[in-house]
Amino acid sequence: MRSVVIEQPGRLAIQQRELPQPAAGEVRVKVKFAGICGSDVHIYHGHNPFAKYPRVIGHEFFGLIDAVGAGVDPQRIGERVSVDPVVSCGHCYPCSVGRPNVCSALQVIGVHRDGGFSDYACAPARNAYPIPAGISDRHAAMVEPFTIAANITAHLQPRADDIALIYGAGPMGLTVIQTLKGVYGVKQVIVTDRIAERLTMAQQNGADWAFNNAEASLPQALLERGIRPTLIVDAACHPAILQEAINLASPAARIGIMGFSGDACTITQQSVTSKELSIFSSRLNSARFPQVIDWMAAGKIDPARLITHCVPADEVERAMLMFERDQRTCCKVLLQFG
Ligand code: NAI
Ligand code: MN
Ligand code: ZN
Repeated sequence: MRSVVIEQPGRLAIQQRELPQPAAGEVRVKVKFAGICGSDVHIYHGHNPFAKYPRVIGHEFFGLIDAVGAGVDPQRIGERVSVDPVVSCGHCYPCSVGRPNVCSALQVIGVHRDGGFSDYACAPARNAYPIPAGISDRHAAMVEPFTIAANITAHLQPRADDIALIYGAGPMGLTVIQTLKGVYGVKQVIVTDRIAERLTMAQQNGADWAFNNAEASLPQALLERGIRPTLIVDAACHPAILQEAINLASPAARIGIMGFSGDACTITQQSVTSKELSIFSSRLNSARFPQVIDWMAAGKIDPARLITHCVPADEVERAMLMFERDQRTCCKVLLQFG
């Protein structure tokens, strides 16, 4: 089988590998579609502190179960599944409180262990979620990115009367917009980015107002209109954003952050406590595949609005470079296997 391997930082190869055998409790998935994510590009460039090399990347994937290990129901062979990349131990403190996404022994498929950019990939059977017939193969590969939005919004508990502000109209910002509008019915969703084409995509994904903060001052524009956001998500993840978000927020607002920068950001206790703001962080997803699959099946979210490209898996290196360099035209890029 073919596997996309980052042999060492900066070196990508399509290797021929032995067909993997599913271990006890695992299934083997014949991969059909897999999405490229910023973190795949980071592993490629050696910018992911968790990655060990060589590594088969890819953590957003869909396929068919074609073999099962000991203890797994053989009737699952042939099932259409999306795979949750979060592999957790099930008994540490975070696991015991329903937070397997920050398990003390967390293993992320495609980061800590081999992933889905491969003709076949093995995963724990419980991580392989059945996909209803009404969801297409391509859309099923988009479940994982929407689980990121499902996870952060679960912390933020959006309400219809919230005034939401989203920083960043990349894939993450767009899944958050769709979730706020389609699932929670938030009336006003404001999005800011520095790239005009991405702001157009934000509107196509449901944003009510798209603001280019490279051209004008967002704080000033909000002040002029008397808008104080009650719910803010930083899906751009520059360390300077949190301070601005705290300043713009309404008293009693909630702020969600999802970045991994190691750089300090400067905030004061006073700016947070005086408004009694709640700041939540969110990492990956805590068993939110069933929820997202339900949303997709019910048409509350529409993955098609994020997918800009679908390319054969053999062209993975070109696709990853295009994804990285061309933020104006690329949002979600899918690789087709098989
Ligand atoms: P992306 O790079 O495609 O999108 C980020 C967008 O933010 C870009 O369109 C950029 O123009 C915009 N931006 C940058 N600085 C800005 C600023 N100061 N104001 C307004 N817009 C600004 O990235 P993607 O894939 O959408 O992911 C976003 C972030 O989320 C990344 O930092 C990534 O590491 C993080 N992430 C976190 C996850 C988690 O579980 N916590 C999961 C996935 C991604
Ligand atoms: Mn991803
Ligand atoms: Zn655990």
